[in-house]
Amino acid sequence: MTSFIGAPIGRVDGRAKVTGAATYAAEFRPPGLVYAALATSSIAAGQLTALHTAAAERAPGVLLVLTHLNAGKLPYQSPAARAAVDPVAGEQLRVLQDARIFFSGQPIAVVVAETQAQATYAAALVRATYAVDTSARTQFDPAQARPTSLAAAKRGRGPETRQGDPDTALAAAPVQVDQRYVQPRMHHQAMEPHATIAHWQGEQLTLWSKSQWVGNERDAIALVFGIPAANVRVINPYVGGAFGSALRTWPHVTLATLAARRAGRPVLLELTREQLFYSIGFRPRTEQRVALGAEATGQLTAIVHEAVGQTSTYEEFAEATLDVPAVTYACPNRRTSYRLVDMHTNTPCPMRGPGHVTGLLVQEIAMDELAAALQLDPLELRLRNFAERDFRKDLPWSSNQLRACYQAGAERFGWQRRTPTPGSMRAGSLRMGLGMATALNPAPRYPIQASATLLPDGTIVVRSATSDMGPGTYTSATQVAADTLGVPLGRVRFELGDSALPPAKEHGGSTTMASVGPAVQAACQDLRRQLDMLAGRPVDLTTTDLPGLLRHAGLLQLQASGSAGPNATPPTHSTYGFGAVFAEVHVDPDLGIVRVARLVGAYDAGRIINPRLARSQCLGGMVGGIGMALMEEATWDPRFGRVLNANLADYHVPVNADVHELDVLFVPSEEPLMNPLGVKGLAELGLCGVAPAIANAVWHATGKRVRELPITVDKLL
Ligand code: MOS
Repeated sequence: MTSFIGAPIGRVDGRAKVTGAATYAAEFRPPGLVYAALATSSIAAGQLTALHTAAAERAPGVLLVLTHLNAGKLPYQSPAARAAVDPVAGEQLRVLQDARIFFSGQPIAVVVAETQAQATYAAALVRATYAVDTSARTQFDPAQARPTSLAAAKRGRGPETRQGDPDTALAAAPVQVDQRYVQPRMHHQAMEPHATIAHWQGEQLTLWSKSQWVGNERDAIALVFGIPAANVRVINPYVGGAFGSALRTWPHVTLATLAARRAGRPVLLELTREQLFYSIGFRPRTEQRVALGAEATGQLTAIVHEAVGQTSTYEEFAEATLDVPAVTYACPNRRTSYRLVDMHTNTPCPMRGPGHVTGLLVQEIAMDELAAALQLDPLELRLRNFAERDFRKDLPWSSNQLRACYQAGAERFGWQRRTPTPGSMRAGSLRMGLGMATALNPAPRYPIQASATLLPDGTIVVRSATSDMGPGTYTSATQVAADTLGVPLGRVRFELGDSALPPAKEHGGSTTMASVGPAVQAACQDLRRQLDMLAGRPVDLTTTDLPGLLRHAGLLQLQASGSAGPNATPPTHSTYGFGAVFAEVHVDPDLGIVRVARLVGAYDAGRIINPRLARSQCLGGMVGGIGMALMEEATWDPRFGRVLNANLADYHVPVNADVHELDVLFVPSEEPLMNPLGVKGLAELGLCGVAPAIANAVWHATGKRVRELPITVDKLL
């Protein structure tokens, strides 16, 4: 039996996805299904004074119009039952519970009708009048920023961390860089919109609902409605991309559930593309100052990194923006501070490497600025400040192949051909620029349970309530199971996305392979042990008559279970994924158009279970990084507290024509301490470092340092 670990297996769910057999949240069709549509607030702050729903109620096919006037009080039990992915302070939006308006785009009515078109039409007939709060905070003003709460501080997102005497060291440093950087509000833009189908059968509630964490959605809705979690089942076998947007349970899930209970029919509520800018979260705008002090040798002597993020007025979403800057480089004097601006907007949420990616983004641009000031090669500067351990936590790395990443990436890219002077390289009539950045992403893991069941026909079903939003959990978990059991892949079926399965934590934070993988391995090892005991000898699962063995033992099936994680506390080591990203850009000197001609990323993500899927994840990260560097930006209108480009035509993301040569390398690596599979998780690591490498390459091509992303043509002319 060949090993499946490390094999480039194609997606086991690939056929179902490309033939349309895969069923997404909005595609289930319980009998009697009816359709919902939202009416939303057109003001950013204030009170509803009147709601005119008569026209909507009279419209064809309409069954129900729900507003705060007839929705009834929902229990909203204990906000203490906050999930790990929820904001640490504040109170979730209690939708349709009163007349208060906290942000533009807030749902104010739900219309249920026999068809989607009827519901959408009738929702457009709902008219509202408001008492507008003229002191609404719709302008991002860093001067208004406040320190984070105690709860956030406890999670390491405190207002300030300090080592040594950074301000004195900065002032004394012979070479200094001190700049401000802005990264705009961004939206996830998953292909599949968020959708929930709610179906009550007596006291039992089934939700088919887009989710990266079905167990959490079950618990969250049970608390909102004050019902036992055991009465709720959340099912979501396929997710069409989510990028963090489906970690939380958003208000539309509550609305679908409420509407279904009132209508006495199953209800589908699918958000429109525009509603996705308001009814779920987003990556918050962040303004940062980075000040670096160094000796003439390039040795860092001081790092000051201050970040101001944004949150809503009703919840505190605090990001780990300064986690990565606190550990990337060796430096004796370091200070970080993190503050928040409360605004009349919907609450932000994790998006593609929340915090980590944006803190790293500006750090790596600042490092490039320092290299230029020192007249030192940017890669050499990073090598001279290599962190031999996690100095912040004073822990050794569990594994660290960053030097190998630098070397392999530079070699593959041809970094040595870079001439230092900006604008000194050409690609035909275009300016060529080469830039690089370090990538670093924390690699935690969560406690996960899994089961492995031998069925009478010899199939082994492995189950865990995790998710697969695209990275390939179905496939990699199948590989781990088949490998552990010593059976062909086709004998294993992996099931996920159902809260009735053995509990898992969020499919996020680049944790799934490192968390679910070992649990699957443990469950399959347990199944092997049980079979060996039944047979009274070690069993070869490919040659043994397993159905016969079951029959002989008088069993219909044989079930085993396993669990894994979390890491030991207090931690003995610090675990991160590492990488080095190199970018070549071509810039039209007359038009300012930037083409990312080539990206090379070299990564240390521990053992790679499936190099084909791992490469695919990094390609996705690179495409996301092109968007972050050059395109992605929600244009915010501070007069109304709304996004001006709340659609996929005006909110730009990279398309095929924007994507050229992408090259992904994995350096040999095994994580010996964190889990028995030797993996560190990949995912968000693939986005880390891409945008700053591109930004640095644009500077090298043009001599223009753009510190407010995205780098659009107007900023280069
Ligand atoms: Mo990711 S932002 O943890 O889904």
